[in-house]
Amino acid sequence: MNLADLNKVALAMVKPGKGLLAADESTATIKKRFDAINVPSTEATRRDYREMLFRSREAMTQYISGVILYDETIWQNASDGTPLITIIEQSQAIPGIKVDEGTQPLSNCPGELITVGLDNLAARLRKYYERGARFAKWRAVIDIGGGIPTMTAIHVNAHALGRYAALCQAAQIVPIVEPEVLMDGDHDIDRCHEVTERVLNATFRELRLQRVALEGMILKPNMVVAGKKCSRQASIEEAAAKTIRLLKASVPAAVPGIAFLSGGQSDQEATAHLDAMNRIGGLPWPLTFSYGRALQAAPQQAWSGKPENVAAGQSAFTHRARMNSLASKGEWTADLENKKAA
Ligand code: 13P
Repeated sequence: MNLADLNKVALAMVKPGKGLLAADESTATIKKRFDAINVPSTEATRRDYREMLFRSREAMTQYISGVILYDETIWQNASDGTPLITIIEQSQAIPGIKVDEGTQPLSNCPGELITVGLDNLAARLRKYYERGARFAKWRAVIDIGGGIPTMTAIHVNAHALGRYAALCQAAQIVPIVEPEVLMDGDHDIDRCHEVTERVLNATFRELRLQRVALEGMILKPNMVVAGKKCSRQASIEEAAAKTIRLLKASVPAAVPGIAFLSGGQSDQEATAHLDAMNRIGGLPWPLTFSYGRALQAAPQQAWSGKPENVAAGQSAFTHRARMNSLASKGEWTADLENKKAA
């Protein structure tokens, strides 16, 4: 492992004013997104859609530091035959790859999940590195509900994140470590805080036990927010303050950066939370975005599968990327939402 190079890539992923585009939806997930806009999900439509995003020149060169790809996409060519990964590299963004293989029910823990994909991971990482991937992602999913999460689910998912991260670093790939506490339930913000704290502590314990170099990774956490079905939704400021308090207590300063998932927040909420956290300031790590839905919902709507809408889709993507870029510097305001990118 060359830690200096891993650290260089990690720092480039969280470069000031830039963040990550999570375009790594599995085939099943992108089908759900396409169903919502009445677009059939085929290899060609998935390619056309992602090509549209990656050819958004302003967004990709100014606001996006890297793109998380799905296995299908990393091997795909654009309509003119250029590999999609080359288009990303040409805009100075770093290609990354989702390497987990989704979730399975966790034995003995009804309702809980374990992320799978460790078998053959070392060999797959070697192939992805050769293709040009310089970072990877693995998402662990923790749900909050009656009696869950169990210690078991937290422990085995943290252990898998540690195994994944160690294998990535051995393959000279920066691991994005993503322990996601879902916001689906009716729990309040303090319960989210408590569970996220346990999950982050277990995750960093495993990373240390498995000798992962913290300087060569990126953390991708959820924000501390109330469950979607909770009757008391916290303000933007409360969520920002509670998230920062938790991260300061749980995330070592050696970690080069933190890039949040959006997790089902509205586009503007995800931007406002990131902005509010960066306005608090005085943090040991840059805080930026690694959004999937909060960057893509608007371009998906604007595009709707029609070639004549490609420019509109790109403009919607550029707008969201610019808003989140400003939020990563604590320079976003709500009134900018109405001014489309120049
Ligand atoms: P969302 O921002 O839609 O939560 O997706 C980010 C991601 O990569 C989840 O693994």
